[in-house]
Amino acid sequence: MNKIMEWTRTHYCGDLRIENVDQEVVLMGWCQTRRDHGGVIFVDLRDYTGISQIVFKMEISETSHVLADSIRGEFVLAVKGKVAHRIEGNVNPKLPTGEIEILVETLEILNKSETPPYVLENRENVDEKLRLTYRFLDLRDSTLQNNLMLRSQSLQIVRNYFTSQRFFEIETPILTKSTPEGARDYLVPSRVNPGLFFALPQSPQLFKQLLMISGYDRYMQLARCFRDEDLRGNRQPEFTQIDLELSFTEPEEIYKLTEGLMVKLFEETISVKVETPFQRMTYQESMENYGSDAPDIRFDLKLKDISDIASECELRVFKQVVDKGGIVKAICVPGGADFSRKDLDDLTEFAQIYGAKGMAWIKRNQDGWQSPIGKFFTSEQKEALEERVGLNVGDLVLFCADNTKVVHDALGNLRKEIALRRGLINNSEYRFVWVTDFPLFEYSETEKSFTSSHHPFTMPDIDDLEKYGEQDPEKIRSRAYDVVLNGVEIGGGSIRIHREDIQKKVFRLLKLTDEEIESKFGFLMKALSYGAPPHGGIALGFDRMMMFLLKTDSIRDVIAFPKTQKAGCLMTDAPSAVETEQLDELHIRVKASAQQTEKLELADK
Ligand code: AMO
Ligand code: AMP
Repeated sequence: MNKIMEWTRTHYCGDLRIENVDQEVVLMGWCQTRRDHGGVIFVDLRDYTGISQIVFKMEISETSHVLADSIRGEFVLAVKGKVAHRIEGNVNPKLPTGEIEILVETLEILNKSETPPYVLENRENVDEKLRLTYRFLDLRDSTLQNNLMLRSQSLQIVRNYFTSQRFFEIETPILTKSTPEGARDYLVPSRVNPGLFFALPQSPQLFKQLLMISGYDRYMQLARCFRDEDLRGNRQPEFTQIDLELSFTEPEEIYKLTEGLMVKLFEETISVKVETPFQRMTYQESMENYGSDAPDIRFDLKLKDISDIASECELRVFKQVVDKGGIVKAICVPGGADFSRKDLDDLTEFAQIYGAKGMAWIKRNQDGWQSPIGKFFTSEQKEALEERVGLNVGDLVLFCADNTKVVHDALGNLRKEIALRRGLINNSEYRFVWVTDFPLFEYSETEKSFTSSHHPFTMPDIDDLEKYGEQDPEKIRSRAYDVVLNGVEIGGGSIRIHREDIQKKVFRLLKLTDEEIESKFGFLMKALSYGAPPHGGIALGFDRMMMFLLKTDSIRDVIAFPKTQKAGCLMTDAPSAVETEQLDELHIRVKASAQQTEKLELADK
């Protein structure tokens, strides 16, 4: 058989230093750039470890020199030669290999390359669509390569951490039955069972619970999950969870394990010391103070309820909102009296995105209030308000009056926006918080019914379940918790229902009929009736954690082959139409209205 390469590589391109001078080496890699300086040809040879300068001189090898003339960007090369000092003036202190170069004796062009569709070093200025179409080229970029290497290192740290704590890594099926986590399922038709479908797992939730029932005690998996949902900044349709489940456990144990992992991961990857234990906050406290269940506690700007004062003032909008069962809340921005009219208009527009109908404000100057609503408050009311929100000279207060959801959404987002604009956020700070005592259910306006806040297998507070039951299901608290980092939910979990009777009650509150319980979750109900131990767990969003470790705002920067916001892959053109024969085999017909005649537009418009 012909060998493709005659030589064996002795070093990587980023390896060589002054100590290697005079050594014979063999390097392989890609041509980053080629420069011809008066008959001497310089090539920057690149692999994932870095760059070495290789030099072709007539007097060393005429054949190599002639061949080197044909080298273009991204050609794949093998070179044999001697390491030499760079002559003074040619030393590049910015490169770890900048003091040496390789005087090439023999060159082999292992493969040619088309001219890339854009200058690879210039990726920052290139449309992301083009880069995603040529992802195999984009991935040659050193930033992306470093990202994926840190991801690989992190996966090892996570594995080692949990295996050292007596966890078993167990793989659960990808072709499975629906595991509800609040998104739509990706379905896979079964050829051998006409008309029937598998669902890809939204999470391994039920399998990990079944493993506890089977006695595996502690399970972990670096689990791929699939969710057909609206994609926002830090979401992908397929993503990776660090998924855990423990038997005979209470939340404290899960908090401790999670905190231990974060300490290790942040320390070993980016040398950041994470403070433990993490702060704790109930869902209610979080909503009241931060207007969100994922509070960013790196800055203050807490929401203050002023509904009582507002209900007595003369401002009609405030009074009416409170009379109708709504609330009025305020944020005090220390030093914010210097906001211009335009700043205030911009912020009002911003609040309107979240449903706010207006945004009253007060500036506290030396001589009192400057405010469009000042005249509607008595001096006692003004005093009470100043005390409630902590208003001092030079500060600004912003108000929102509406139903609780709108007020929290608008002010919760406004506080983050103001913190950004005012530079109140320290980007090197990592503030973790556990949010606990989530409600078991939330009311869905679209479905006009209650849905699970976490998932339907979460243990309710038993006293609440007895007390509120069917009359006030929204008042039932659950034993669910989230871990939030700098205002981003990076993980969520709960103690599970391990008793069949409680699971049935919860399904019934979710308005599932006995037939639906049987057809969707019959296997779970059966398993719960054969000696299920108390158990609980958590899943951490691994991609989101990587975004923090790598300080990037784009989840696509931490995934090798990510999808666009339209859940497509521009490189492979997936999803794509299939042949009629393939559909026939699967017993499927595509509606005429859904047939794609032209190539799918997978990217965002
Ligand atoms: P949950 O649905 O909260 O819980 O998911 C856990 C964590 O997974 C991450 N995550 C995502 N990351 C990227 N793209 C997505 N589309 C996406 N969706 C979720 C988030 C989230 O906190 N089975 C339960 C866990 C349990 O109860 O043990 C579950 O999946 O960081
Ligand atoms: P108006 O009486 O509509 O002119 O409003 C007086 C002030 O109250 C203006 O600054 C409005 O922006 C503000 N405002 C109106 N509606 C609301 C609301 N729902 N919440 C907070 N401020 C509001």
